[in-house]
Amino acid sequence: MLDDLVSEELPADPVPLLRCWLETARTSNVTDPDSGVFATVDSDGRPSARVLHLRRCDDRGLVFFINRSTRKGRDLEGNPRVALTFYWAPLLRQVNITGISQTASPAESDLLWREGSSTGRAASLASRQGEPLSDEQGLRHRAKEIVDAGTMQPRPSTHQGLLLTPETVEFWLGRRDRLHRRVHYSFAGGEWTHWSLQP
Ligand SMILES: Cc1cc2nc3c(=O)[nH]c(=O)nc-3n(C[C@H](O)[C@H](O)[C@H](O)COP(=O)(O)O)c2cc1C
Repeated sequence: MLDDLVSEELPADPVPLLRCWLETARTSNVTDPDSGVFATVDSDGRPSARVLHLRRCDDRGLVFFINRSTRKGRDLEGNPRVALTFYWAPLLRQVNITGISQTASPAESDLLWREGSSTGRAASLASRQGEPLSDEQGLRHRAKEIVDAGTMQPRPSTHQGLLLTPETVEFWLGRRDRLHRRVHYSFAGGEWTHWSLQP
């Protein structure tokens, strides 16, 4: 079964398996199943990581929505290589992904912006994310004004969809006896190959 990562039944492409695990997490007792830790590296090789909310996972890869003017955006300018980890504790499941990121099309970014909540959009518009905060009341006031206006504001050009095209995907299935199952997928030469790893 896919749930046990039995080798003979694993798909050639890891994305359908990832989607299957995401779906299981969404329908299980998992808090925030679509959130993963997303790591970038700056041009001096310094890594940083933060949680991002997955917006889509389709044949192209994984799609997020970010503000490009913060640290991760600057990192991605210099180095599009990223790593992403999902951990679904109640399921004892982890997925580690590495790959290349690129900016989504303006049309897709607009759609992602419109699909967000009105409070999320207002917070994005009111806040200069990552800059020092000296007036929280002012920030709250600006956000409330935007929500109260009730109009769909255009997407700021700094806010963009981000497509992660995976190059490696590793599935980890925890077992109580510590003999965990690990399956590593790698994309090279235009095709995916996979093999099991010792735990
Ligand atoms: C559960 C959760 C979901 C988040 N989702 C997003 C997201 O989808 N996009 C985003 O830009 N930041 C998201 N954040 C905030 C980021 O973790 C981070 O604080 C912010 O993007 C600034 O990161 P940076 O300064 O490293 O660029 C989320 C945080 C949490 C805890």
